[in-house]
Amino acid sequence: MKEGSNILKAAVEAGALTIDNRFCLTGQCDVCCVEMEHGEIIRSCMHAIPSGKSSITVLVVDSDEAWEAMSV
Ligand code: FES
Repeated sequence: MKEGSNILKAAVEAGALTIDNRFCLTGQCDVCCVEMEHGEIIRSCMHAIPSGKSSITVLVVDSDEAWEAMSV
């Protein structure tokens, strides 16, 4: 995981999910929404890994099977 990398892409690289046609990748569909450690819900396709972080943990907001438990 590289600081500044897109969170959704990092999740794919970590094997936490596979992007399919449900993911718009443009901030429109909300399939990629996750809850950050501090409680903020974000669209992971639109956010980068925060600077100064060597790892992040997110909670999946939607119980959609696209996501596995993830720590990247
Ligand atoms: S993939 Fe659709 S909002 Fe992120």
